[in-house]
Amino acid sequence: MQSFWGDDVKGIEFTPLPPPQKGFPLLSGLGESAQMPFYETISIRPQTQLHLWKIEESLEQLAEGLTLQERSRQKLDKLKAVTHQKGFLAVRQLLVHLGFTDADVQYDPNGKPLLSNGQHISISHSHDFAAVAISNENLGLDAEAMRPKVLHIAPRFMDIETHLAGLTLSEQLQKATIIWSIKEAVFKIKNEKGISYPNHISEHPFSFADGKTTARLDFNQCTELFPVHFIQREDYIFVCAFES
Ligand SMILES: CC(C)(COP(=O)(O)OP(=O)(O)OC[C@H]1O[C@@H](n2cnc3c(N)ncnc32)[C@H](O)[C@@H]1OP(=O)(O)O)[C@@H](O)C(=O)NCCC(=O)NCCS
Repeated sequence: MQSFWGDDVKGIEFTPLPPPQKGFPLLSGLGESAQMPFYETISIRPQTQLHLWKIEESLEQLAEGLTLQERSRQKLDKLKAVTHQKGFLAVRQLLVHLGFTDADVQYDPNGKPLLSNGQHISISHSHDFAAVAISNENLGLDAEAMRPKVLHIAPRFMDIETHLAGLTLSEQLQKATIIWSIKEAVFKIKNEKGISYPNHISEHPFSFADGKTTARLDFNQCTELFPVHFIQREDYIFVCAFES
């Protein structure tokens, strides 16, 4: 690790500063990115922001200061895995960070979240990251950790000839994860039972450097196209799909 102070202070021991307090601004005037453990806000489109939270807290720390609606309490109680419980709570902390409360998010009968101010919201959590996308347009968001097992199941959900041929293993991992996330994101927009990932959703050929592609849904005798944007942070993929 390179010293922040330069080489001329080598050998001098510094007492490390205590870690920043949760949600406490490190420096004023630097905007939201100066707050921890809030991770980043990314402008996907002019009216669409993707907000990321990196989950580094314990379950107790994530629950601190949150007021949950009864519905959310029940949902949380039903989540068995601590990772899922953390993801659920981190989304609520992220909402508070953005000036909302848990009560500002309601759900339609299929589980699609709705935001109280009339904007569209989509939510996703995956292991160490919680993500919320807020937009004036209907959208679907999916966050996914890149894990090798996606390559084992890839033939069951995607066209591997079109998308993976000729790529290195790490490129295949990246791309198969993006394609899985695209299908989840499109599903979250449509929110309809009966959509099959391999049979109904396909993706226009793309390369990782493009940062975007188009997904196509052929379902119920209709064809719809969805512009898709994707980014990678650490070993996670984040995909936003739009209705138009
Ligand atoms: C709904 C679904 C997409 C969620 O994806 P996931 O990877 O399990 O979980 P994520 O963390 O990405 O997303 C969870 C969030 O999705 C949102 N969500 C749940 N159901 C939703 C729906 N029907 N529409 C839109 N968003 C939904 C919720 O906000 C939830 O977060 P919250 O409970 O904290 O509010 C997924 O569970 C699902 O049902 N997929 C469809 C499976 C399918 O039919 N596949 C066909 C294979 S052939």
